[in-house]
Amino acid sequence: MRLPLVAGNWKLNGSLAANRELLQGVIAGLPAAGVEVMVCPPAVYLAPTAAELAGTTLLLGAQDVSTQDQGAYTGEVSAAMLRDVGCTHTLIGHSERRTLFGDTDDVVAAKFVAARAASVQPVVCIGETLEERQAGDTMAVVRRQLGAVLNKVGVDGFAGAIVAYEPVWAIGTGQTATPEQAQEVHAAIRAQLAAADAKLGDRTRILYGGSVKGANAADLFSRQDIDGGLIGGASLKAGEFLAICEAAAGTDS
Ligand code: 13P
Repeated sequence: MRLPLVAGNWKLNGSLAANRELLQGVIAGLPAAGVEVMVCPPAVYLAPTAAELAGTTLLLGAQDVSTQDQGAYTGEVSAAMLRDVGCTHTLIGHSERRTLFGDTDDVVAAKFVAARAASVQPVVCIGETLEERQAGDTMAVVRRQLGAVLNKVGVDGFAGAIVAYEPVWAIGTGQTATPEQAQEVHAAIRAQLAAADAKLGDRTRILYGGSVKGANAADLFSRQDIDGGLIGGASLKAGEFLAICEAAAGTDS
């Protein structure tokens, strides 16, 4: 069985004081078993968050990583630096990075390689825009985005990484994909992984992201190929985030 994972992507939100309050609330209510839970604060808050998480089961992830190891790359943060301050994971290829900051499929694949080289596990974010869905291109788009990474790193290079399917039209809009819509794409993603290697298909966790809330999480997570969630807005409220974590824990059997 795949252990569900719920990751909170805080995006560009928070402060030292607000983060501490949020973390204390999350830590106090974490399910005892049945789910892994991760938070992904902005880069400057990773080190203080690592200190707050010490001794808890909460995992720490970054929101992005540089393709570069070190050198004259002003503003960048390397995977080794993420590891150094306690990150076990990093998001890569989030749709906001792709659409607002120009991360191409090749850049995402290079970030994957950089993260793995420093033993940071990538969470590869993929998903179609509304126009792409309306044009009937959903499967082709996610296939291309995942394939760009898979073809570059191969089965062994991918093993252990996580995929997050986030339809762009569902992010921050309150318009969640229906469990049927999400499951359909998750099944296609798993089939693509399984075609490369049966174990990769079986073992890779595929998270859903896009307007997940306490009220819709259980229905989404009950679907066969949905192994948890990548949560934006609802991860900024401890009670809402914990309700989502509980929903995921309830599907672990
Ligand atoms: P929302 O949960 O706010 O829709 O954001 C989803 C997301 O982009 C998580 O990475």
